[in-house]
Amino acid sequence: MGANQSNDQNLELDLIGKMGQKPRRNYGIAVVGAGTIVRFGHLPAYKTWGLKVVGLTDVDPSRAKGLAQEFSVPNVYPDLSAVLADPDVEIVDIAVPAQFQPEIACQALESGRHLLCQKPFAERYSDALKVVELAEARGLKLAVNQQMRWTPAMRAVKELIRRGWLGEPLRAEFDINLWEGLTGWVLDDDPFDLLYYSIHFYDVSRFLYGEPHWVYSICSRWPGQKMRGETRTNVLLEYPSGLQLLHRTNHNNDAGDIYATFRVEGTEGVAKGTFGIHYGYPFGRPDGFLFTTKRHLSNCWVDVKFTEKWIPDAFAGPMLSLMEAIDTDSEPATSGRDNLGSLRLAFAIQRSQRAHQPVCPADVEFGGK
Ligand SMILES: NC(=O)c1ccc[n+]([C@@H]2O[C@H](COP(=O)([O-])OP(=O)(O)OC[C@H]3O[C@@H](n4cnc5c(N)ncnc54)[C@H](O)[C@@H]3O)[C@@H](O)[C@H]2O)c1
Repeated sequence: MGANQSNDQNLELDLIGKMGQKPRRNYGIAVVGAGTIVRFGHLPAYKTWGLKVVGLTDVDPSRAKGLAQEFSVPNVYPDLSAVLADPDVEIVDIAVPAQFQPEIACQALESGRHLLCQKPFAERYSDALKVVELAEARGLKLAVNQQMRWTPAMRAVKELIRRGWLGEPLRAEFDINLWEGLTGWVLDDDPFDLLYYSIHFYDVSRFLYGEPHWVYSICSRWPGQKMRGETRTNVLLEYPSGLQLLHRTNHNNDAGDIYATFRVEGTEGVAKGTFGIHYGYPFGRPDGFLFTTKRHLSNCWVDVKFTEKWIPDAFAGPMLSLMEAIDTDSEPATSGRDNLGSLRLAFAIQRSQRAHQPVCPADVEFGGK
């Protein structure tokens, strides 16, 4: 993956980073759940990166058969026990609604398989913790598919921070105003935005800046909306340094002008852009990305052009990171243990919404929903 500059600043940019430090790639992967995200995210990314998908299963066998045909996957398993009976399966890649995930994850771990779980990792913190502890007790690797960390824009921000080109972080804003037109099981999910969408942003906030000290959030619904859960959310994160992050999300913009933007500011520079995924979901377009830094540029903005997109390209990130962790007996970047921090943040945000008060995530005991 790579990024090109559109102007002539002679700044060498390798902003995407080394996605998957060339781990062994021929681990046998079985995918549980053959739905939308597997079709548009997982399987196209694995095909591009030459990963070995040995089979699929789904409670609706016609879905598994259809995707197996579309992506030339050799096996369609009738159920999870058939997946786990196949010695070629080394990694189980789960992509079902989160309420079913902990049970599938535990069975796969009991059978000695490494795991890639979907986000949200679980709907209850206690379930996620149980899965993490089981993986650790069995010496198996577990990653969560928080692949927003591998979007070109977020890797670019991370790289600029690493180089010091943005200086001390001061403020960051993520402003997401969408019309989702969602159907299916997600209509019944409550919370909705917190766990099924914005958890990407909470995870990315931790990736970029670490753990906030305080969170304050409000959320609401739109009159007459079909979803049970909340669809309008404002979240403010405060860090010990004084850094402030604002996440604004709305899933009910029917005015025809959807947008998904970010802006991060520091003492030395600013980066801003768009999350291309939302401009024609699920195919979208590459992220937009502009930055300026006092270190090398004076009031001049660099316009970085990416070719990769969130879907499907970023979906290679968590899987390659998991493979690297298996190879080197290390932790995947988005390990289950790390993801407990993102869930902790999400549930602290929920607590703030319910109490209409700021909450310190470190001080809260998490029982679940
Ligand atoms: N990482 C991301 O960016 C991202 C994006 C979209 C969805 N997701 C997550 O992926 C999961 C699936 O979302 P989707 O949009 O593909 O939903 P979907 O409804 O299109 O697909 C889910 C599939 O899982 C199957 N299924 C349900 N329970 C099962 C079980 N116990 N065993 C086997 N198969 C089962 C269903 O039949 C269906 O085919 C959700 O948890 C969602 O949060 C993640």
